[in-house]
Amino acid sequence: MEEQSIAILDFGSQYTQLIARRIRELKVFSVVLPCTASLEEIKKYHPMGIILSGGPFSVYDPDAPPADERVLAIGPPVLGVCYGLHFITQKLGGVVKPGPKREYGHAEVHVSAESRLFKGLPHSLNVWMSHGDEAEKLPSGFSVVASSSNALAAIQDESRGIWAVQFHPEVHHTRLGTDLLRNFVYDICGACADWTPQHFIQEAIRQVKETVGEEGRAICALSGGVDSAVAATLVHRALEDRLTCVFVNNGVLRKNEFQKVQQNLKEKLGLNLVPVDASQRFLEKLAGVTDPEKKRKIIGNEFIEVFDGEAHRIERLVGKVEWLVQGTLYPDVIESRSVRGPSQTIKTHHNVGGLPEKMKLKLIEPLKDLFKDEVRRIGRELGMPEEILQRQPFPGPGLAVRILGEVTPERIALLQEADDVVVSEIKAAGLYSHIWQSFAVLLPVMSVGVMGDQRTYAYTCAVRAVHSEDGMTADWVPLPYDVLKKISNRIVNEIRGINRVVYDVTSKPPGTIEWE
Ligand code: XMP
Repeated sequence: MEEQSIAILDFGSQYTQLIARRIRELKVFSVVLPCTASLEEIKKYHPMGIILSGGPFSVYDPDAPPADERVLAIGPPVLGVCYGLHFITQKLGGVVKPGPKREYGHAEVHVSAESRLFKGLPHSLNVWMSHGDEAEKLPSGFSVVASSSNALAAIQDESRGIWAVQFHPEVHHTRLGTDLLRNFVYDICGACADWTPQHFIQEAIRQVKETVGEEGRAICALSGGVDSAVAATLVHRALEDRLTCVFVNNGVLRKNEFQKVQQNLKEKLGLNLVPVDASQRFLEKLAGVTDPEKKRKIIGNEFIEVFDGEAHRIERLVGKVEWLVQGTLYPDVIESRSVRGPSQTIKTHHNVGGLPEKMKLKLIEPLKDLFKDEVRRIGRELGMPEEILQRQPFPGPGLAVRILGEVTPERIALLQEADDVVVSEIKAAGLYSHIWQSFAVLLPVMSVGVMGDQRTYAYTCAVRAVHSEDGMTADWVPLPYDVLKKISNRIVNEIRGINRVVYDVTSKPPGTIEWE
């Protein structure tokens, strides 16, 4: 547990995670807690300050989300943001009402009084507003510090240690928002900028050692992706060879991926890695299956079987294994306890989540407090190859959900080649690390073409590239025409079996990123 933090109580705003990120960028650990967390729970995180987030509700809704009102008594300083301002106003005896005009988007705010929150900032600020309600009457002791043309924009009662803003300092459209948060975190709360990758690594290693003890053993399923690789490398620093990593070839990996991961993690990083080539048994189970959900289930179940068998084999060799390392990230943790509730399942995502129940293993999740970009920074500090750290996300069921219809060895080989062309051309154009995902999809649609006076009749390949923050929503990338042209020429010329390339121009929603 960190020695100091800024605790953020989440009232359900889409921006809550951004507040945490901004504060971490200031090198202060911040934790997002559900708004219903009790003062005792909040105190466990040693908060130097508490931020009440925005939210989609109105404080006078019958089901308006509550919070432990004791956070408003004298204790660590409090900053309310949007709904947070309304919550503070209403709970301390003021009045909140629907504003005459909803205010969304850019607004100009004028700072009219001295405030530590606005120290060093200009008197006129460009901010991002997103609210319908506003404070009509302030609780006693509070004064207005800033206003927009429509509504009050910031209030404070310094004697109670409470500040609140109507706008969103965490979003990038609020131009000097980080300076305002910096004033709150450093100046008002007195937090120190000591949350760095080195600090995190030392602390994580210490915690893993303490949890697992001198003798304990752990196992980890590597996927080839960033999260499990960083989690394993970190735990390896603590347990050394008492951690065994298993990397399963499920037959639907990318071209040469099975070898590449072994080179990177075993040879370069020295992980104790057991490669398991189970492709044959996966492909046998997938034969004849065309339904996307069935494919996912087969791969998920088979993976658990293979991994479980491997874990038993390892136990027979080295002794009892009690721990499972997983690369769970902070957004998953926040999402699972959000006041908005878990998001609807559109597709069953296969993660190793089913493993601990079956195998009765205890979990080690060393990255569960980190965002993706922080994981990359930790990986870099651990000396991991950029090839792993910059890798775009790749789904657990691999190429099986990018081959529409039946998954056959012939189709896998075709898609591996096409995928390799897409990835290498995107890399050659310097775009790879700026794009969330870029890949090829094999469509079981045959069409007629002509090559060197010969008629061809072959498959179609769709190319997909999307920008996304977290995979929940996505925009298709307007790839430069010359890159598309190169990809298309290479696929059709180099891969016998594909004679047509199309580009997917669908965003999510209404599409999904993967085709199945
Ligand atoms: P969709 O297709 O649902 O994908 O828009 C959103 C993100 O999730 C990835 N994805 C998966 N990841 N197991 C995973 O580990 C899965 O079964 C799975 N299906 C989709 C997808 O690549 C994208 O980043």
